[in-house]
Amino acid sequence: MLSTERLSPAFPQHSRLDERGRLQIGGCDAIELAREFGTPLYAVAEEDLRARARSYLDAFRARHDDFVVAYGAKANACTAVLEVFAGEGLWCDVASAGELQLALGAGFSPERLIVHGNARTEEELELALGSGAGLVVVDNFDDIDRLERLTSAASGAPAGPAAAHEGQDVLVRVTPGVRPGTHASISTGQADSKFGLGIDDAARAIERIDAIEGLRLLGLHVHVGSQLMELEPFVAAVAAIAPLGSFDVYDLGGGLGVAYGAGEHPPAVEDYVAALVEAVQSALGPGKRIIVEPGRSLVANACATLYTVVSVKRNVSVWVAVDGGMSDNLRPMLYGARYEAQVADRFGDSVPCRLVGKHCESGDVLVHDAALQDPEVGDVVVTPATGAYGLAMANNYNGVPRPAMVFCRDGQARLVVRRETYDDLRARDVS
Ligand SMILES: Cc1ncc(COP(=O)(O)O)c(C=O)c1O
Repeated sequence: MLSTERLSPAFPQHSRLDERGRLQIGGCDAIELAREFGTPLYAVAEEDLRARARSYLDAFRARHDDFVVAYGAKANACTAVLEVFAGEGLWCDVASAGELQLALGAGFSPERLIVHGNARTEEELELALGSGAGLVVVDNFDDIDRLERLTSAASGAPAGPAAAHEGQDVLVRVTPGVRPGTHASISTGQADSKFGLGIDDAARAIERIDAIEGLRLLGLHVHVGSQLMELEPFVAAVAAIAPLGSFDVYDLGGGLGVAYGAGEHPPAVEDYVAALVEAVQSALGPGKRIIVEPGRSLVANACATLYTVVSVKRNVSVWVAVDGGMSDNLRPMLYGARYEAQVADRFGDSVPCRLVGKHCESGDVLVHDAALQDPEVGDVVVTPATGAYGLAMANNYNGVPRPAMVFCRDGQARLVVRRETYDDLRARDVS
């Protein structure tokens, strides 16, 4: 029997257990993937990425004419992922000059880029303007100073297409004073935040921008936080920015939560979009352009990481050590993020254990409360829901090369990011 019922919602939609109880991702056998490409390995069900992009587009199409779905590239800025979303017709939210370059390289047209950042140098803003980025989101008054200088310097000299007509289109990022129920490190909507401007300062920023010839203020931006499992904070943020006036464009950021394990039920994309559309129409009026910037909810569940078990020992607890860890998934260490784990060809939970990485930190624990089925050295262990902020935050701690990524589709696996080599570790050394 082909079974999906033993998979939690953290796994890709396009995954299942086969008749032998072996995990298949995008039609590819997880054990074979590990054998062919090595571990740790990010295995992505490519069709999941497309299905999730389409679910956002369909949800908007069903209820609102003027909308933009912009992929929050920070979640996973690998070129192959960006290419999928560019191909599906999304825009792209970039948070740095580097992400901007990656998005352009992956085929996003410049006018579909939304450029963020709370600490952008003049050079970074110049690059954004020069590349013709569609929207620059103003985070602070220093941004306004820089943009004023750049757009007045550019008048007469051609910058990007946006700067060439009525000025560079901008949004003002507002911190709406909404504290969502998520980890403090990924909460951004509260009044005391490093991102954006409070309501009073936003009102002053709007006045200043209105007086600058080279800038055209289209609207406001809010992003209340990430991994939100309730819709109320999104709705509250819309209400909070209403007193700032009426604009054509409202960018409501990203933040929709995902399931990292069994029993977790984030709001459906349909319900999220319906709530936003309803909130905008009732608090801000009809005919507005609504932008959203989903990151995690487009990529997290499309991917699972495969590891090989290197050691199993009992030291009070049972410690199952794998060949990766905090260098390929920093989220458990940064935020206490919880993951589930399974032996890829033996799902079950006979042995309560701690799934740990290979790094020289006691905190290098991927799953504190794992339960694996008779874990043994050589087993392939899978942790699902690693597509967001995994590769994006990967690092070389302890000189560990970063993993490869494969796209799996209809039983075919395609290498899209090669594994780092030991030579790569030295690649930037000058001596
Ligand atoms: C401005 C902005 N937009 C979008 C996102 C994407 O958020 P998420 O991955 O939670 O959807 C973030 C994440 O931090 C963000 O800061």
